[in-house]
Amino acid sequence: MMMAAAEITQRERMPVRICASAEAAIAEAADAVERLIRERAAAGRATVLGLATGSTPVGLYRELVRRHREEGLSFARVVTFNLDEYHGLGGAHPESYRRFMQEQLFDHVDIAAENTHVPDGRAPRDKVFAACRAYEEAIRAAGGIDIQILGIGRTGHIGFNEPGSGPDCRTRLVTLDSLTRRDAARDFLGEENVPRHAVTMGIGTILEARRIFLLAWSEAKAGVLARAVAERPAEAVPASFLQGHRDCVFLLDPAAAGQLTRVRHPWLVGPVAWDAALTRRAVLWLARKTGKALLKLVDEDYAENGMADLLTAHGSAYHLNIAVFNETQHTITGWPGGKPDADDSHRPERALPYPKRVLVLAPEPMDDVYCMGGTLHRLANQGHAVTVACLTSGNLAVPDTDLRRAIELLGEAAAGRGAGPEHAHAADLQRQLETKGAFGEDSRDIRRLKALIRRGEARASSRLLGVDVSGVRFLDLPFYEAGRYRRFRTGEDDAAAVAALLAEIRPHQVFATGFGHDPLSVPALCFTVLHEALERHRDADWLCACNIWLYRGPGAEWEPQEVDMAVPLSPDEFENKLHGIYQHQTQRSQSPSPEKNGSGNTWNLASKLNRAAARTYDGLGLAEYEAIECFRRWRFQMSAS
Ligand code: GLP
Repeated sequence: MMMAAAEITQRERMPVRICASAEAAIAEAADAVERLIRERAAAGRATVLGLATGSTPVGLYRELVRRHREEGLSFARVVTFNLDEYHGLGGAHPESYRRFMQEQLFDHVDIAAENTHVPDGRAPRDKVFAACRAYEEAIRAAGGIDIQILGIGRTGHIGFNEPGSGPDCRTRLVTLDSLTRRDAARDFLGEENVPRHAVTMGIGTILEARRIFLLAWSEAKAGVLARAVAERPAEAVPASFLQGHRDCVFLLDPAAAGQLTRVRHPWLVGPVAWDAALTRRAVLWLARKTGKALLKLVDEDYAENGMADLLTAHGSAYHLNIAVFNETQHTITGWPGGKPDADDSHRPERALPYPKRVLVLAPEPMDDVYCMGGTLHRLANQGHAVTVACLTSGNLAVPDTDLRRAIELLGEAAAGRGAGPEHAHAADLQRQLETKGAFGEDSRDIRRLKALIRRGEARASSRLLGVDVSGVRFLDLPFYEAGRYRRFRTGEDDAAAVAALLAEIRPHQVFATGFGHDPLSVPALCFTVLHEALERHRDADWLCACNIWLYRGPGAEWEPQEVDMAVPLSPDEFENKLHGIYQHQTQRSQSPSPEKNGSGNTWNLASKLNRAAARTYDGLGLAEYEAIECFRRWRFQMSAS
């Protein structure tokens, strides 16, 4: 699949670098920042950095802190300006960007407090305008921004310049998009707590920076990035205005680059070496693009869509169609654990051993049911020994309203038995809840009770899906218990806990998720922990014989070309899955109105995704099912070290 750089980037309207990993991209940005700081310091001059918040730049800040500690990189002559701040939040608020910057960077380097600037979220409405002008003035007075670091929101926003923002806008008060608020809901422990407004540098302000690095990781960003890079600059995708900058580069990890034409449809931008996987991908794409069933594609469809060479290699559309049809057909199975006593030469999973020991890993309780509840049901029904392991307790995602209910229940149950330690405990919990305040951190006791609520939900859900509740395990991984969203750090203990579970079960199949996710998200951290745990078993016999299947994670589903195993569900099975999801009462949608149920832990989305997958297969001319759950095979590869 080799071709000249000019060819492969022909549909990209600006420089984009697909780095080997987020770490590699971070190293590149950190090198540029370090080089400039050192050069300027040597000349006795200051460096002005424009900084961003969110999960994306956290790795960069950690790397800069490391270079400060270990390599003497000094920030004494650095001046910083942050992009934005939620309106209404003071610096002490745990979700304010000021606090974020203090915790992620400023508190750990030798930067002078007066050199760090974050827009003032507390400026009263009638003073915001003046404060915004003063912010711009301060940037100018510092000599302008030398290097601007950016992330990107799923709406395509940079800073908080939501769709509709033009290329000339300046620092101002803005209203946040509903998708942006939903994306922040977890951090704020509920969408209703997310501020509705923010102060942000404008796109015009950002474009004045001398050099810009936009960083992006994970498949969640892939769609909007492809638009920002390939479409004409427009207000619908504010990041697209970066195309007009003369020194701006997007540094992406492979997952974030996944929707760029050169990655997703390389045959459209140059000659490719057609292997089986690429052929399948292209033919499935062609069928979906033309709206035709696979077996109805004709030579002209191939020729008119840049795939004439593929046709030549296979002789005719007829042969090609059948080959891809059969291959896709063979990914569909109602026997996710393998079909005993059947020929398995064309099945995704082997027949033997039977029954299998199956380990299903859920980063947070419910992820398993939400993404593969039907498959779980089948595995249990078909006689396999299924263990569901909830890796983290999920207590951070329990709203206080549900907690209050549980405390009241405890209190009433205890009261029925007279004053005693149980009664005192319930009263104590009640007090802790009342005193923590709207955004206060939960105490250990409260987190514990929230975790127990989720355990109850997970057990109820598994029971409905036929999984023996003794097979539901709760690992309560330490990294989660010690942190909050976006601030987690995994350690040895986490990998040790998962390694111990693997050693105990010695699974024939593992179902997991987190591949390609935002590296700081709970699924991605759990996936890293799984990888480390597998490393510890690198020589184990069971691992050589273990198939690892990936489910994509809440909110998204694999596309047919990515799927190695598609498990169809009958209407009854699908209904049962939904009942399983409904047991996770604390994870119900924030809003009862369906049109507001976009991403995140909403119940409705699971049904939409599984039904949509079934419709896609139907449209390809395969059998018509009620719903489908999809999986990808993942081959464990040991780290080079
Ligand atoms: C917020 C910030 C942006 C950031 C975006 C993406 O909206 N204002 O500056 O780029 O979130 O966040 P994350 O990096 O967590 O995906």
